[in-house]
Amino acid sequence: MLLAKSTWPEIEAFLQRSKTVVVPIGSNEQHGPTGLLGTDWMCPEIIAHEAQKASADLLVAPTFNIGMAQHHLGFPGTISLKPSTFMAAIGDWCRSLAGHGFTKIYFLNGHGGNVHSIEAAFSELYAEASFAGRPRGFACRLKNWWDLSGVNALASRQFPTGHGSHATPSEIAVTQWAYPDAIKSADYAPKIAPSGPIREALDFRARHPDGRMGSDPALATPEKGGELVAMAAKALIEDVAAFGAEAAPG
Ligand code: NI
Repeated sequence: MLLAKSTWPEIEAFLQRSKTVVVPIGSNEQHGPTGLLGTDWMCPEIIAHEAQKASADLLVAPTFNIGMAQHHLGFPGTISLKPSTFMAAIGDWCRSLAGHGFTKIYFLNGHGGNVHSIEAAFSELYAEASFAGRPRGFACRLKNWWDLSGVNALASRQFPTGHGSHATPSEIAVTQWAYPDAIKSADYAPKIAPSGPIREALDFRARHPDGRMGSDPALATPEKGGELVAMAAKALIEDVAAFGAEAAPG
């Protein structure tokens, strides 16, 4: 069930049977010469949208599609928030959803650079609840889509070398499966990109001239992407169900 394609009475009725909502979250940033700028928000969105087709109890909120991408700002098309803006926005999304009665907010993440700031935003929300003495039961969860059960192992089998950490063949394969009309190609030099630290934007571009980090995106195929989506969507349904069923202690 997609929140954006539902009406308020439908969400009110949904809340009678579930208090759990999934928010795909990512980033709009360069992904090398052939990766789509939307890769990091598209991957969790593709997986969550696929999963909700198979489970009537999975409610998917709109995608939070701008994240922590300051280090990619040396490449045209990247849009970034600062950590403080990002955390404030996550807080307001959660406060809005919690105000309607959602007590379990599950973020399916597609960008490693978001992780620390998402966790910090959760800490702010928990602190607010603690200082206000609010009732127990409200919980947020962060899950990277590649950490869903079985997904990392499948990606390792599909791409034993050249996976890397940015503009990876696994994430590009997922977008190729969902958007076959937007598949791009290029002659990569070197074939596997260099790895290195992540600092500010000019440093990043100097270390990673075409935007890739340790990856060979030429290994991506739509078929491999389809396998990853199928495995991730199944695991997402199970993980969200387990999160929703967690009872408050005591
Ligand atoms: Ni990415």
